[in-house]
Amino acid sequence: MEHGSGAGHGLPGRHESFWMETAPETSYPPLPGDLEADVAVVGGGITGITTAVLLKQAGYTVAVIEADRISRGVTGHTTAKVTSLHRLIYRELVDRFGGSRAKQYADANQAAIGTIASLVQEYDIPCDFIRKPAYTYAESEDSRDLVAAEADAARSLGLPAAFVDDVPLPGRTYGAVRFADQAQFHPLNYLLRLASMIPGDGSQIFEKTRALEVRDERSRCTVRTDRWTVTARSVVLATHYPFYDGPGFYYARMEPSRSYVLGIRIDEPFPEGIFINAEGPAHSWRSQPASGGELVLVGGMEHRTGENVDTREHYRRLEEYARSVYPVKSVDYRWSAQDYITIDGVPYIGPLADGHENVYIATGFRKWGMTNGTAAAMILTDMIRGRQSPWAEVYAPDRFRPIASIQRFLAHNIEVAEKYIGGAISRPSGDLRDVQPGEGRILMIEGRKTGIYRDQEGRVHAVNPTCTHMGCVAAWNSAEETWDCPCHGSRYSVDGRVIHGPAVRGLPPPGE
Ligand code: FES
Repeated sequence: MEHGSGAGHGLPGRHESFWMETAPETSYPPLPGDLEADVAVVGGGITGITTAVLLKQAGYTVAVIEADRISRGVTGHTTAKVTSLHRLIYRELVDRFGGSRAKQYADANQAAIGTIASLVQEYDIPCDFIRKPAYTYAESEDSRDLVAAEADAARSLGLPAAFVDDVPLPGRTYGAVRFADQAQFHPLNYLLRLASMIPGDGSQIFEKTRALEVRDERSRCTVRTDRWTVTARSVVLATHYPFYDGPGFYYARMEPSRSYVLGIRIDEPFPEGIFINAEGPAHSWRSQPASGGELVLVGGMEHRTGENVDTREHYRRLEEYARSVYPVKSVDYRWSAQDYITIDGVPYIGPLADGHENVYIATGFRKWGMTNGTAAAMILTDMIRGRQSPWAEVYAPDRFRPIASIQRFLAHNIEVAEKYIGGAISRPSGDLRDVQPGEGRILMIEGRKTGIYRDQEGRVHAVNPTCTHMGCVAAWNSAEETWDCPCHGSRYSVDGRVIHGPAVRGLPPPGE
């Protein structure tokens, strides 16, 4: 789990992802020595595992390298909606990219649903995969036209879309765009079974092996890890945010965002469908079969990672919102997730950068990682096999053009980064005696910024809060009891261990 023990006292529910609690643990070995494979895949989430399986099916040998345990990162904290309805995106894509590239995005995500369904069937995976309609619904009169326009744009791209007046959720709504024949599943039961297909015939999975550096030299790539080195013809970086940026400047082209999930029980059967509102903050709904009866997952309340706010408020507001919609019998689970959002909302999938044609990236899924991650696996498999992917263009990492809105985004990002690097957000306040059990703060101790956390037993944990990625100052996340970097989303435990990259080195003790 990605938090300090006892995180978020006084908050509703167990601090645990339902998926992680109900899936078996893995114990793949660490990398035992230097190794060669056709392809090295760094990252054991849905993108990495699916890519490895598709490549192995195509006759390649694959080495999957995972810093912790496979599927326990972002994939373990998703709401696991398997849909091409990504809130409101198609109208915007058509306007920004034109119909042909907007259709690539639509087709890629629809095809991803089909691939997941086929893999479930082919490998007989018991993961509660079930087809359901997906809705983006208007919570206000003002949004009605937006969802109607989204339905029109989506239908024009060949998606199974319709505008509907009736939304089968309680409370007042103002119509929705509805996609037929979408799906949901238990993401870890799916992924772990899929992963079990990888070892053998020259392919392997290595856990507890952190990749530190990638080199791409004359058709021969090396991945140096904290143990040994993997040599391969191609490398896929499927680590959510790339720990290796090359000359791609991804750090300036994405922003990290956190969102929250509660697993609740209600008195009535949850309606047929998966749901999200059109407005901000997000209100997302789905149900899940569980022992003790149906569990309802309500999510949303997103914000930029590392914002100087009491993150516990997001859980509280989510609970308040859930109770305003349903009489809630109990809140059983709570967890949070991190996502990256690109400048134009479309992921970066393809070669990392000029001169790095054998290193591939897949990132920036904007909270729609089940289908975009699977589409990434399909696209990268095609590319590694030397085939043309029909969807490569819309996702191309080098598509970036400096149009006005993008310039504004970059200017904003640079301004924000300057503030964070200067530590203007994480200002030191108070002294050691002011830090209560369960609290974290930046203090100025002996002239140095020091991240202090006092645990429930009163022990003090101190770190140098300067992020080891690019030097921003990490902020305290009260809900998860972690140090989170606002610049590119690296996250650390109270003792400085890396929980989430791009950082590959932990926070050192104060003064180092
Ligand atoms: Fe890049 Fe912290 S994650 S500076």
